[in-house]
Amino acid sequence: MKYVNLGKNGPKISTIGFGAWGISGRDWGTTDDKKSKLAIHEALDSGVNFIDTADTYGFGHSEELIAEVLDERGRKDEVVIATKAGNNFYPYLGKEYDSTPANPDYSKKHLIFAAEQSLKRLRVDVIDLLQLHSPSAELMENEETWEALKLLKEQGKIKLAGLSVQSFKETEHAYILDKRRDVLDVLQIRYNLLERGAETVLLPKAMEYGLGIIVRIPLLFGLLAGKFNRESRFGDNDHRRMNLSHEKLDKYLMQLDKIKSFFELHNEYSMAQLALRFCVSHPACHVAIPGGKTPEQVKENIAASEIEIDHKEFPGL
Ligand SMILES: NC(=O)c1ccc[n+]([C@@H]2O[C@H](COP(=O)([O-])OP(=O)(O)OC[C@H]3O[C@@H](n4cnc5c(N)ncnc54)[C@H](OP(=O)(O)O)[C@@H]3O)[C@@H](O)[C@H]2O)c1
Repeated sequence: MKYVNLGKNGPKISTIGFGAWGISGRDWGTTDDKKSKLAIHEALDSGVNFIDTADTYGFGHSEELIAEVLDERGRKDEVVIATKAGNNFYPYLGKEYDSTPANPDYSKKHLIFAAEQSLKRLRVDVIDLLQLHSPSAELMENEETWEALKLLKEQGKIKLAGLSVQSFKETEHAYILDKRRDVLDVLQIRYNLLERGAETVLLPKAMEYGLGIIVRIPLLFGLLAGKFNRESRFGDNDHRRMNLSHEKLDKYLMQLDKIKSFFELHNEYSMAQLALRFCVSHPACHVAIPGGKTPEQVKENIAASEIEIDHKEFPGL
Protein backbone atom coordinates (compact mmCIF):
# COMPACT_ATOMS: atom_id res chain seq x y z
CA MET A 1 0.00 0.00 0.00
CA LYS A 2 1.26 3.47 -0.88
CA TYR A 3 0.67 6.45 1.40
CA VAL A 4 0.55 10.22 0.66
CA ASN A 5 -0.29 13.38 2.55
CA LEU A 6 -3.87 14.50 1.97
CA GLY A 7 -2.87 17.96 0.76
CA LYS A 8 -0.70 20.43 2.63
CA ASN A 9 -2.74 20.25 5.87
CA GLY A 10 -3.80 16.62 5.81
CA PRO A 11 -2.47 13.46 7.45
CA LYS A 12 -0.64 10.63 5.70
CA ILE A 13 -3.24 8.31 4.20
CA SER A 14 -3.40 5.23 1.96
CA THR A 15 -3.94 6.01 -1.74
CA ILE A 16 -6.85 3.55 -1.78
CA GLY A 17 -9.44 4.20 0.91
CA PHE A 18 -12.81 2.68 1.76
CA GLY A 19 -16.06 4.31 0.60
CA ALA A 20 -18.79 3.48 3.10
CA TRP A 21 -22.01 4.49 1.33
CA GLY A 22 -22.61 1.05 -0.21
CA ILE A 23 -22.63 -0.71 3.16
CA SER A 24 -25.15 1.66 4.71
CA GLY A 25 -28.15 -0.59 4.08
CA ARG A 26 -29.92 2.09 2.06
CA ASP A 27 -29.76 3.24 -1.59
CA TRP A 28 -27.68 0.21 -2.68
CA GLY A 29 -30.09 -2.67 -2.24
CA THR A 30 -30.09 -4.98 0.76
CA THR A 31 -26.76 -5.45 2.52
CA ASP A 32 -25.50 -7.82 5.18
CA ASP A 33 -23.91 -5.97 8.14
CA LYS A 34 -21.73 -8.96 9.02
CA LYS A 35 -20.25 -9.05 5.52
CA SER A 36 -19.93 -5.25 5.44
CA LYS A 37 -17.90 -5.30 8.65
CA LEU A 38 -15.67 -8.04 7.25
CA ALA A 39 -15.11 -5.82 4.20
CA ILE A 40 -13.97 -2.94 6.44
CA HIS A 41 -11.74 -5.30 8.45
CA GLU A 42 -10.19 -6.58 5.22
CA ALA A 43 -9.44 -3.01 4.15
CA LEU A 44 -7.81 -2.11 7.46
CA ASP A 45 -5.87 -5.40 7.61
CA SER A 46 -4.45 -4.59 4.15
CA GLY A 47 -3.19 -1.13 5.07
CA VAL A 48 -6.16 1.13 4.27
CA ASN A 49 -6.24 3.93 6.83
CA PHE A 50 -8.84 6.22 5.26
CA ILE A 51 -12.61 5.74 5.41
CA ASP A 52 -15.17 8.05 3.82
CA THR A 53 -18.72 8.11 5.11
CA ALA A 54 -21.58 10.59 5.73
CA ASP A 55 -24.08 11.08 8.53
CA THR A 56 -26.94 10.49 6.11
CA TYR A 57 -25.68 7.10 4.78
CA GLY A 58 -28.26 4.67 6.16
CA PHE A 59 -29.38 7.50 8.49
CA GLY A 60 -26.25 7.05 10.63
CA HIS A 61 -25.88 3.30 10.06
CA SER A 62 -22.67 3.57 8.02
CA GLU A 63 -21.00 5.62 10.79
CA GLU A 64 -22.22 3.13 13.40
CA LEU A 65 -20.79 0.14 11.51
CA ILE A 66 -17.42 1.89 11.21
CA ALA A 67 -17.42 2.62 14.95
CA GLU A 68 -18.18 -1.04 15.71
CA VAL A 69 -15.28 -2.23 13.57
CA LEU A 70 -12.88 0.28 15.10
CA ASP A 71 -13.98 -0.72 18.61
CA GLU A 72 -13.37 -4.38 17.75
CA ARG A 73 -9.85 -3.50 16.62
CA GLY A 74 -9.16 -1.14 19.53
CA ARG A 75 -6.97 1.28 17.52
CA LYS A 76 -9.12 4.24 16.47
CA ASP A 77 -6.16 6.58 16.15
CA GLU A 78 -4.74 4.59 13.23
CA VAL A 79 -7.67 5.36 10.93
CA VAL A 80 -8.58 8.72 9.41
CA ILE A 81 -12.35 9.09 9.19
CA ALA A 82 -13.97 11.57 6.84
CA THR A 83 -17.68 12.18 7.25
CA LYS A 84 -20.17 14.66 5.79
CA ALA A 85 -23.06 16.83 6.89
CA GLY A 86 -25.70 18.99 5.23
CA ASN A 87 -28.49 16.57 4.39
CA ASN A 88 -30.82 16.79 7.37
CA PHE A 89 -32.26 13.29 7.60
CA TYR A 90 -33.19 13.63 11.27
CA PRO A 91 -36.89 14.45 10.66
CA TYR A 92 -37.17 11.15 8.72
CA LEU A 93 -35.61 8.88 11.35
CA GLY A 94 -37.72 5.82 12.05
CA LYS A 95 -39.70 6.13 8.80
CA GLU A 96 -39.46 3.70 5.90
CA TYR A 97 -37.96 4.95 2.62
CA ASP A 98 -36.55 3.07 -0.37
CA SER A 99 -33.97 5.80 -0.87
CA THR A 100 -32.59 8.66 1.22
CA PRO A 101 -34.80 11.79 0.96
CA ALA A 102 -32.96 15.03 0.10
CA ASN A 103 -33.34 17.74 2.75
CA PRO A 104 -30.39 20.15 2.39
CA ASP A 105 -29.60 22.22 5.49
CA TYR A 106 -26.27 24.00 5.66
CA SER A 107 -27.24 26.39 8.44
CA LYS A 108 -24.73 26.92 11.24
CA LYS A 109 -27.18 25.44 13.74
CA HIS A 110 -27.71 22.25 11.75
CA LEU A 111 -24.04 21.71 10.82
CA ILE A 112 -22.96 22.02 14.45
CA PHE A 113 -25.76 19.70 15.58
CA ALA A 114 -24.88 17.20 12.81
CA ALA A 115 -21.16 17.20 13.71
CA GLU A 116 -22.01 16.55 17.35
CA GLN A 117 -24.25 13.62 16.38
CA SER A 118 -21.49 12.16 14.16
CA LEU A 119 -19.01 12.44 17.02
CA LYS A 120 -21.39 10.38 19.16
CA ARG A 121 -22.10 7.75 16.50
CA LEU A 122 -18.43 7.38 15.55
CA ARG A 123 -17.54 7.36 19.27
CA VAL A 124 -14.52 9.66 18.77
CA ASP A 125 -13.44 12.93 20.43
CA VAL A 126 -12.70 14.70 17.16
CA ILE A 127 -13.76 14.23 13.53
CA ASP A 128 -10.67 14.02 11.28
CA LEU A 129 -12.45 15.60 8.31
CA LEU A 130 -15.96 17.05 8.03
CA GLN A 131 -17.15 17.70 4.46
CA LEU A 132 -20.13 19.71 3.27
CA HIS A 133 -22.26 17.10 1.51
CA SER A 134 -22.49 18.48 -2.03
CA PRO A 135 -24.32 21.81 -1.56
CA SER A 136 -25.52 23.75 -4.61
CA ALA A 137 -23.72 26.97 -5.63
CA GLU A 138 -26.60 28.95 -4.16
CA LEU A 139 -26.35 27.24 -0.77
CA MET A 140 -22.59 27.75 -0.73
CA GLU A 141 -23.20 31.53 -0.69
CA ASN A 142 -24.49 31.29 2.86
CA GLU A 143 -21.84 32.88 5.09
CA GLU A 144 -22.91 30.94 8.18
CA THR A 145 -22.06 27.59 6.52
CA TRP A 146 -18.40 28.57 6.48
CA GLU A 147 -18.59 30.13 9.95
CA ALA A 148 -19.83 26.77 11.22
CA LEU A 149 -16.78 24.97 9.80
CA LYS A 150 -14.42 27.58 11.29
CA LEU A 151 -16.15 27.34 14.67
CA LEU A 152 -16.05 23.53 14.70
CA LYS A 153 -12.30 23.72 14.03
CA GLU A 154 -11.76 26.31 16.78
CA GLN A 155 -13.74 24.16 19.23
CA GLY A 156 -11.55 21.15 18.37
CA LYS A 157 -14.55 19.13 17.14
CA ILE A 158 -13.12 18.72 13.64
CA LYS A 159 -9.51 18.72 12.44
CA LEU A 160 -10.05 19.48 8.74
CA ALA A 161 -12.85 21.02 6.68
CA GLY A 162 -13.84 19.80 3.25
CA LEU A 163 -16.33 20.19 0.45
CA SER A 164 -17.75 17.29 -1.49
CA VAL A 165 -18.38 18.99 -4.83
CA GLN A 166 -21.74 18.25 -6.50
CA SER A 167 -21.54 15.68 -9.27
CA PHE A 168 -20.81 17.19 -12.70
CA LYS A 169 -20.26 20.68 -11.20
CA GLU A 170 -16.50 20.35 -10.87
CA THR A 171 -15.68 23.21 -13.27
CA GLU A 172 -18.65 25.38 -12.31
CA HIS A 173 -17.89 25.20 -8.58
CA ALA A 174 -14.10 25.66 -8.82
CA TYR A 175 -14.47 29.38 -7.95
CA ILE A 176 -15.20 28.36 -4.37
CA LEU A 177 -11.54 27.44 -3.91
CA ASP A 178 -10.53 31.11 -4.36
CA LYS A 179 -13.29 32.33 -2.12
CA ARG A 180 -12.96 29.85 0.76
CA ARG A 181 -9.33 28.88 0.73
CA ASP A 182 -8.98 30.14 4.32
CA VAL A 183 -11.18 27.33 5.65
CA LEU A 184 -11.09 24.53 3.04
CA ASP A 185 -8.45 21.81 3.43
CA VAL A 186 -9.88 19.06 1.24
CA LEU A 187 -12.20 18.54 -1.75
CA GLN A 188 -14.06 15.42 -2.73
CA ILE A 189 -14.81 15.11 -6.43
CA ARG A 190 -16.52 12.77 -8.88
CA TYR A 191 -13.74 11.57 -11.18
CA ASN A 192 -13.12 8.37 -13.10
CA LEU A 193 -11.98 7.01 -16.47
CA LEU A 194 -15.23 8.09 -18.16
CA GLU A 195 -15.90 11.34 -16.24
CA ARG A 196 -12.94 13.71 -16.37
CA GLY A 197 -14.55 17.14 -16.04
CA ALA A 198 -12.42 17.97 -12.97
CA GLU A 199 -9.21 17.96 -15.01
CA THR A 200 -9.69 21.31 -16.73
CA VAL A 201 -10.03 23.85 -13.90
CA LEU A 202 -10.60 22.26 -10.53
CA LEU A 203 -7.64 19.89 -10.25
CA PRO A 204 -4.97 22.44 -11.36
CA LYS A 205 -6.42 24.99 -8.91
CA ALA A 206 -6.51 22.45 -6.08
CA MET A 207 -2.87 21.65 -6.71
CA GLU A 208 -1.94 25.33 -6.67
CA TYR A 209 -3.65 25.74 -3.27
CA GLY A 210 -2.31 22.49 -1.82
CA LEU A 211 -5.77 21.03 -1.20
CA GLY A 212 -6.28 17.36 -0.51
CA ILE A 213 -8.30 15.58 -3.22
CA ILE A 214 -10.53 12.57 -2.54
CA VAL A 215 -11.87 10.79 -5.63
CA ARG A 216 -15.35 9.35 -5.30
CA ILE A 217 -17.29 7.04 -7.65
CA PRO A 218 -13.95 5.83 -9.05
CA LEU A 219 -15.60 2.65 -10.40
CA LEU A 220 -18.67 4.45 -11.77
CA PHE A 221 -20.87 2.51 -9.33
CA GLY A 222 -19.27 -0.81 -10.33
CA LEU A 223 -19.52 -0.32 -14.12
CA LEU A 224 -15.75 0.13 -14.46
CA ALA A 225 -15.23 -3.32 -12.91
CA GLY A 226 -16.58 -4.50 -16.29
CA LYS A 227 -19.47 -6.49 -14.87
CA PHE A 228 -22.49 -4.73 -16.38
CA ASN A 229 -23.95 -5.00 -19.87
CA ARG A 230 -26.81 -3.29 -21.69
CA GLU A 231 -29.30 -5.66 -20.09
CA SER A 232 -28.18 -5.03 -16.47
CA ARG A 233 -31.05 -3.86 -14.25
CA PHE A 234 -31.19 -2.77 -10.60
CA GLY A 235 -33.79 -3.16 -7.84
CA ASP A 236 -36.18 -0.46 -6.64
CA ASN A 237 -34.02 0.17 -3.56
CA ASP A 238 -30.78 0.57 -5.58
CA HIS A 239 -29.94 4.12 -6.75
CA ARG A 240 -28.30 2.61 -9.84
CA ARG A 241 -31.79 2.06 -11.23
CA MET A 242 -31.59 5.80 -11.98
CA ASN A 243 -27.83 6.51 -12.07
CA LEU A 244 -27.14 3.53 -14.35
CA SER A 245 -30.44 3.62 -16.20
CA HIS A 246 -30.83 1.88 -19.55
CA GLU A 247 -29.88 5.13 -21.40
CA LYS A 248 -26.89 5.87 -19.15
CA LEU A 249 -25.61 2.29 -19.39
CA ASP A 250 -25.82 2.55 -23.17
CA LYS A 251 -23.75 5.75 -23.21
CA TYR A 252 -21.13 4.58 -20.69
CA LEU A 253 -20.70 1.14 -22.28
CA MET A 254 -20.19 2.71 -25.68
CA GLN A 255 -17.41 4.93 -24.24
CA LEU A 256 -15.89 1.96 -22.43
CA ASP A 257 -15.83 -0.02 -25.64
CA LYS A 258 -13.58 2.63 -27.23
CA ILE A 259 -10.85 2.12 -24.60
CA LYS A 260 -11.12 -1.65 -24.30
CA SER A 261 -7.74 -2.21 -26.01
CA PHE A 262 -6.09 -0.48 -23.01
CA PHE A 263 -7.53 -3.09 -20.64
CA GLU A 264 -6.43 -5.88 -23.00
CA LEU A 265 -2.88 -4.46 -23.11
CA HIS A 266 -2.65 -4.51 -19.30
CA ASN A 267 -4.56 -7.72 -18.65
CA GLU A 268 -2.32 -8.68 -15.73
CA TYR A 269 -4.60 -6.30 -13.79
CA SER A 270 -8.38 -6.39 -13.48
CA MET A 271 -10.51 -3.61 -14.97
CA ALA A 272 -11.40 -2.36 -11.48
CA GLN A 273 -7.71 -2.13 -10.56
CA LEU A 274 -6.84 -0.17 -13.73
CA ALA A 275 -9.82 2.15 -13.21
CA LEU A 276 -8.65 2.89 -9.67
CA ARG A 277 -5.04 3.39 -10.75
CA PHE A 278 -6.28 5.96 -13.29
CA CYS A 279 -7.80 8.07 -10.49
CA VAL A 280 -4.80 8.13 -8.19
CA SER A 281 -2.26 8.50 -11.00
CA HIS A 282 -3.42 12.09 -11.54
CA PRO A 283 -0.84 14.27 -9.73
CA ALA A 284 -3.54 16.31 -7.94
CA CYS A 285 -5.43 13.27 -6.57
CA HIS A 286 -4.46 11.71 -3.25
CA VAL A 287 -6.94 8.95 -2.56
CA ALA A 288 -9.66 7.00 -4.36
CA ILE A 289 -12.46 5.66 -2.16
CA PRO A 290 -14.09 2.72 -3.95
CA GLY A 291 -17.17 1.39 -2.24
CA GLY A 292 -16.65 -2.26 -1.30
CA LYS A 293 -19.39 -4.58 -0.12
CA THR A 294 -17.36 -7.77 0.30
CA PRO A 295 -13.83 -8.64 1.48
CA GLU A 296 -13.14 -10.02 -2.02
CA GLN A 297 -13.96 -6.71 -3.73
CA VAL A 298 -11.87 -4.81 -1.18
CA LYS A 299 -8.87 -7.10 -1.68
CA GLU A 300 -9.02 -6.66 -5.45
CA ASN A 301 -9.37 -2.88 -5.21
CA ILE A 302 -6.52 -2.35 -2.76
CA ALA A 303 -3.99 -3.93 -5.12
CA ALA A 304 -4.44 -0.85 -7.37
CA SER A 305 -2.34 1.21 -4.97
CA GLU A 306 0.86 -0.55 -6.11
CA ILE A 307 0.28 -0.32 -9.89
CA GLU A 308 2.92 1.85 -11.58
CA ILE A 309 1.10 2.99 -14.77
CA ASP A 310 1.61 6.73 -15.34
CA HIS A 311 -1.38 9.06 -15.89
CA LYS A 312 -0.19 9.92 -19.42
CA GLU A 313 -0.35 6.25 -20.44
CA PHE A 314 -4.14 6.07 -19.94
CA PRO A 315 -6.19 6.51 -23.13
CA GLY A 316 -8.07 9.75 -23.79
CA LEU A 317 -11.82 9.72 -24.37
N1 LIG B 1 -21.95 13.36 -2.84
C1 LIG B 1 -21.03 12.66 -2.23
O1 LIG B 1 -20.31 13.15 -1.38
C2 LIG B 1 -20.82 11.22 -2.62
C3 LIG B 1 -21.58 10.64 -3.65
C4 LIG B 1 -21.30 9.32 -4.02
C5 LIG B 1 -20.31 8.60 -3.37
N2 LIG B 1 -19.59 9.19 -2.35
C6 LIG B 1 -18.53 8.44 -1.64
O2 LIG B 1 -17.70 7.79 -2.59
C7 LIG B 1 -17.64 6.37 -2.31
C8 LIG B 1 -17.40 5.61 -3.59
O3 LIG B 1 -18.42 5.83 -4.53
P1 LIG B 1 -19.57 4.78 -4.79
O4 LIG B 1 -19.53 3.75 -3.71
O5 LIG B 1 -20.83 5.52 -4.99
O6 LIG B 1 -19.19 4.17 -6.21
P2 LIG B 1 -17.98 3.24 -6.70
O7 LIG B 1 -16.90 3.20 -5.68
O8 LIG B 1 -17.64 3.71 -8.05
O9 LIG B 1 -18.71 1.83 -6.83
C9 LIG B 1 -18.89 1.03 -5.70
C10 LIG B 1 -19.67 -0.25 -6.03
O10 LIG B 1 -19.04 -0.98 -7.07
C11 LIG B 1 -19.11 -2.39 -6.79
N3 LIG B 1 -17.71 -2.85 -6.67
C12 LIG B 1 -16.70 -2.35 -5.87
N4 LIG B 1 -15.54 -3.01 -6.06
C13 LIG B 1 -15.78 -3.94 -7.00
C14 LIG B 1 -14.98 -4.94 -7.61
N5 LIG B 1 -13.69 -5.07 -7.32
N6 LIG B 1 -15.56 -5.74 -8.54
C15 LIG B 1 -16.87 -5.61 -8.87
N7 LIG B 1 -17.68 -4.70 -8.31
C16 LIG B 1 -17.15 -3.85 -7.38
C17 LIG B 1 -19.89 -2.54 -5.49
O11 LIG B 1 -21.30 -2.67 -5.73
P3 LIG B 1 -22.05 -4.04 -6.13
O12 LIG B 1 -21.24 -5.18 -5.60
O13 LIG B 1 -23.40 -3.93 -5.54
O14 LIG B 1 -22.12 -3.99 -7.64
C18 LIG B 1 -19.68 -1.18 -4.83
O15 LIG B 1 -20.67 -0.84 -3.91
C19 LIG B 1 -18.99 6.11 -1.60
O16 LIG B 1 -18.98 4.88 -0.90
C20 LIG B 1 -19.06 7.33 -0.71
O17 LIG B 1 -18.21 7.18 0.41
C21 LIG B 1 -19.83 10.48 -1.99
